[in-house]
Amino acid sequence: MSDFDYAARALSNAREVVVFTGAGISVESGIATYRDPLTGIWAQHDPRDLETANAFRKNPPFVWGWYLWRRQQVTNAPPNAAHLAVGQLAATGRKLSVITQNVDNLHERAGSVDVLHLHGSLCTPKCFACHRPGTLPEHQIPIPSEGALIEPPRCGRCSGKLRPNVVWYGEDLPSDVWKSAVALVKNCDVLISVGTSGIVTPAADIPRLALSSGATVIHVNTEDVSTAEPNELMLIGKATEVLPKLIALVPRAEQPQ
Ligand code: APR
Repeated sequence: MSDFDYAARALSNAREVVVFTGAGISVESGIATYRDPLTGIWAQHDPRDLETANAFRKNPPFVWGWYLWRRQQVTNAPPNAAHLAVGQLAATGRKLSVITQNVDNLHERAGSVDVLHLHGSLCTPKCFACHRPGTLPEHQIPIPSEGALIEPPRCGRCSGKLRPNVVWYGEDLPSDVWKSAVALVKNCDVLISVGTSGIVTPAADIPRLALSSGATVIHVNTEDVSTAEPNELMLIGKATEVLPKLIALVPRAEQPQ
């Protein structure tokens, strides 16, 4: 039996499924990955110039403008067949949780409701000083171009500068989100890991945590990222081709008697 057949059987027998995603699931919506040498965001910028608190302190308009540009990319990007297939998995009557490293909102726009963002979201800024959630001023979008210098708006409570509500290099993941993610991974029967290079921890530890908790892990990636553990399956291909085919084979879950 192929890994694909094993994956379809494991999903059909599962009651609790986690889908863990990285930048690769959004590639076919036109959003650059972080490390793809051809299209990756880092090919154009040095992350130390953009994705750290110090970078924001040094040049708030440049970092804020960069994020507004990225948010605009996301707003203009449609969810793709992979996001939609994940949304459909919930309709099979299984407990489905999505844990994403992505800061876009494509899972939500594809119908997924239980989505944990380990690295935050482009959609909701927060105050750099008091951390209170802020709202994006509509007059700042659409922005003229990538690299436009745009003054960050001010917090309604303390007048501090608003910053993107994403996890920057050197910052910890939100502890409540991480704890929820670990609990879901430890209890799932199957974890599908889609489009992630597994480089950045602690997020990268999630597939290993699922395996050590006895779950079957199904990797979906254009490259072989499997560690060849028992109960680990590797489906090589584009997420928009593999996921719809796989999820179409998953029947409705048997209701408990
Ligand atoms: N379908 C499936 N996988 C794909 C596709 C595709 N169409 N295109 C690319 N990939 C795979 C690549 O092979 C790679 O393994 O997606 C992965 C993208 O890896 P990264 O760019 O490293 O993205 P990610 O794993 O999400 O990065 C994790 O690093 O910089 C931080 O905070 C950032 O959340 C990000 C984290």
